[in-house]
Amino acid sequence: MAENLVSSWSDGKSLPESYIFPSGKRPGENVVPTSKSVPVIDLGHINRKETIQNIIEASQEFGFFQVINHGVPRKVFDDTRAAFKEFFALPMEDIANLYSLDLSRKCMLYTSNVDYDKEEIHNWRDSLRLACSPLKDCIQFWPEKPTGYRDVVGDYVMKVREVGSSILELICEGLGLESGHFVGEISQQQVMAVHHYPPCPDPSLTLGTRKHCDPGLITILLQGDIPGLQVLKDGQWIGVEAIPDALVMNIGNQLQIVSNGKLRSVEHRVVTNKDVARYTAALFIEPPRDCIVEPAKALVNAQNPPLYKSARYEDFLHTFRAAYVGKIEDVMEPYMLKT
Ligand code: OGA
Ligand code: NI
Repeated sequence: MAENLVSSWSDGKSLPESYIFPSGKRPGENVVPTSKSVPVIDLGHINRKETIQNIIEASQEFGFFQVINHGVPRKVFDDTRAAFKEFFALPMEDIANLYSLDLSRKCMLYTSNVDYDKEEIHNWRDSLRLACSPLKDCIQFWPEKPTGYRDVVGDYVMKVREVGSSILELICEGLGLESGHFVGEISQQQVMAVHHYPPCPDPSLTLGTRKHCDPGLITILLQGDIPGLQVLKDGQWIGVEAIPDALVMNIGNQLQIVSNGKLRSVEHRVVTNKDVARYTAALFIEPPRDCIVEPAKALVNAQNPPLYKSARYEDFLHTFRAAYVGKIEDVMEPYMLKT
């Protein structure tokens, strides 16, 4: 129900019990101001080999990196974020009909998580999930309001998807796979989650997004100018610097599997803040549901046995959702081969 949306009922003063995370899972615990930080990679750098090496190292060490000089004009980011803001500011009667937990919809407004009814504690966020592939068949289902939303956000998706493809090609080269390994089925599906994190009455007790790994191949996040994203590094949470011009990239579980564990999909979460609303957009590049994902043959041999089982992406997603609501501790564990 649309009445569940945080922005529809929050008075900004009190935090309901169903948003209070158990101690040990709250922000403020195990957070370091950080001497180590998520690497920022300049894609305009002329030395391609060095860029590739930096990407591979960051993906091994952090599972995350930010990119700058990626070719997407700042105006595209600003216009897109303005459109997100306008959308979430629309009167409830304009958006309530988009509320759904049906993942087969090409446009779905929800709050906290698609398993809202199954989770004990909710995330402090409202989200809009937009199917993006193929774009021409999806865009007609996206919000009609605000005016221009479809054009602006559609343009953003096309441009950012391009950045995703070039990063995947650099990763491909860095792993020693044949060119184009990530073109085709494995990256065929794209979905974007646009998140609205309203100002929160008590950021020390709740999370905007709880700890999770992204299940797909790679995620491209527009964090914007307000920090909130934290990455788990050596048992401690480190903040990802908010750089308005940058895109944050993170390795998904399927890329960890394909790379046979060389690249890591790392847990992350989002903290809220008291005074300002935060808007982000995560473009998930992933395989279609019936795609079988396994370690790349070229990376596996007698000295390097496969570390993961082959799995249908749809089955993996069931495990992912069980992990998200806390039924399973480690999402990768059921897919590990004992060596
Ligand atoms: C996600 C995610 C981070 C953010 O959508 O998977 O991790 O800052 N989002 O919104
Ligand atoms: Ni994520």
